[in-house]
Amino acid sequence: MTRKGQVREAFGLAAATYDRHADIQRHVARRLAGVVAGLPLPPRPRVLEIGCGTGFLHEALQPRLAYGEWIFSDLSPDMAARARERFGALPHTRYVVMDGEQPCFGLDVRFDLIVSSLSFQWFERLGESVAALRRMLAPGGWLAFTTMARDSFHEWRQAHRQLGLEAATPAYPAPADLAALWPGARVDEEHITQEYQSGRDFLRQLKGIGAQVPAPGRQPLTPGALARVIRCFEDHGARSTYHVATCRLPAER
Ligand SMILES: C[S@@+](CC[C@H](N)C(=O)[O-])C[C@H]1O[C@@H](n2cnc3c(N)ncnc32)[C@H](O)[C@@H]1O
Repeated sequence: MTRKGQVREAFGLAAATYDRHADIQRHVARRLAGVVAGLPLPPRPRVLEIGCGTGFLHEALQPRLAYGEWIFSDLSPDMAARARERFGALPHTRYVVMDGEQPCFGLDVRFDLIVSSLSFQWFERLGESVAALRRMLAPGGWLAFTTMARDSFHEWRQAHRQLGLEAATPAYPAPADLAALWPGARVDEEHITQEYQSGRDFLRQLKGIGAQVPAPGRQPLTPGALARVIRCFEDHGARSTYHVATCRLPAER
């Protein structure tokens, strides 16, 4: 199975438990909603959401944004189905199963707003794919998204390094590197620290949201090595940083 297939499957399996484990994602979606609500958009924007998950971003934006149309899309059919269960009764919503790196719209389709919260870290060609989405904006439109940045999970990585091992968590870009990818992009950053009861609790939470697919080419640790890493992670307080970049890009003229 391709890595993207693994990502689709992992999020599909987690769709039913996602909301219970996704405190960080809910917080980040609310922050992004605040940013989006402040953008100079037309009165009833046509919106495309990529990687909608169970719908946190829409939930947070709903009271703040009157939209003309909102298209929920996700790589995982189960996630898109969850969003539909939640918001399907609302007028002017549509649900699409789609890889955000291969949008399924005609060349003439344009959006006033393209949004995404904590999905683009799963993209395989972040720079090109975001640039392509940007070209789908109508004049005056905006692309706004959050994604994971460099310091995320540094405690987990450090626990591996101390034991001479390498963590399977993907390497994320620095905010300055993200800003350099797209002319005119503004990138803000936030560090959030989450404390866990144990190392296993941390891993359970990642699995509960479907975010356990390793970086390309990484193999899982042996049970013994994993137990040592967990002990080391707990010795340093069993906490994990989420370094979140919030990016906003205006349509190119
Ligand atoms: C961490 S969840 C975030 C979900 C939601 N945006 C939220 O804020 O709770 C990541 C989501 O991105 C989706 N995803 C991953 N890769 C994707 C891709 N290439 N295209 C579209 N969606 C993708 C996953 O299926 C999952 O629903």
